[in-house]
Amino acid sequence: MLRDTRIAVMGAGLIGRRHAMHVAASADADLACVIDPSPVGQAAADEFGAPWAASLADASAHRPDGVIVATPNQMHMRNGLECVAAGLPALMEKPICDSVADAQRLVAAADAAGAPLLTGHHRRHNPLMQKAKEIIDGGAIGTPVAANAMFWICKPDDYFNVEWRREKGAGPVYLNLIHDVDT
Ligand SMILES: NC(=O)c1ccc[n+]([C@@H]2O[C@H](COP(=O)([O-])OP(=O)(O)OC[C@H]3O[C@@H](n4cnc5c(N)ncnc54)[C@H](O)[C@@H]3O)[C@@H](O)[C@H]2O)c1
Repeated sequence: MLRDTRIAVMGAGLIGRRHAMHVAASADADLACVIDPSPVGQAAADEFGAPWAASLADASAHRPDGVIVATPNQMHMRNGLECVAAGLPALMEKPICDSVADAQRLVAAADAAGAPLLTGHHRRHNPLMQKAKEIIDGGAIGTPVAANAMFWICKPDDYFNVEWRREKGAGPVYLNLIHDVDT
């Protein structure tokens, strides 16, 4: 019998905890460990019944098969390159990096190492989006030449109280609008 896939979650904040919760609850995967040097990392590991590690290097003892990188945007290139160097497939939370140049560097390194990367643009997997793409690709509305889109957002009042979310490489464009750019 095949053993379950062992997933490490790096970053135990808002979304990393959700990833850890789903991995821990999955019938096909085990939560190999939670990687986060802050006190919330240890707390999340305890909550989801997994070992805690302060870094990817420390996590190797827990033999992950892949990593979900859910750290602040500004850390993505560094953390992604760590996964590539370890030969581990990674789901990179969006945006893949906080600049095109860094994203290209990370993708090139992953390609060269044969380490798969996936970006957490989950909306492209939504059946509505997939149907819309199928309709457009099938030519049902001809060749689109322009689109008119509107972006509205209302985050909780304290959402931008987290410092990195206000800094270069984050903010509403790189944190929120980026989903619609991907769409
Ligand atoms: N796909 C989605 O819908 C979605 C939703 C929310 C957030 N995100 C993305 O997920 C990422 C995290 O966002 P968040 O809101 O959860 O952030 P957060 O601030 O709530 O949590 C980030 C966590 O990363 C930890 N961390 C920082 N440096 C680290 C390192 N080197 N190694 C391990 N852990 C480290 C911090 O201690 C913190 O606990 C961002 O890139 C964000 O854009 C995606």
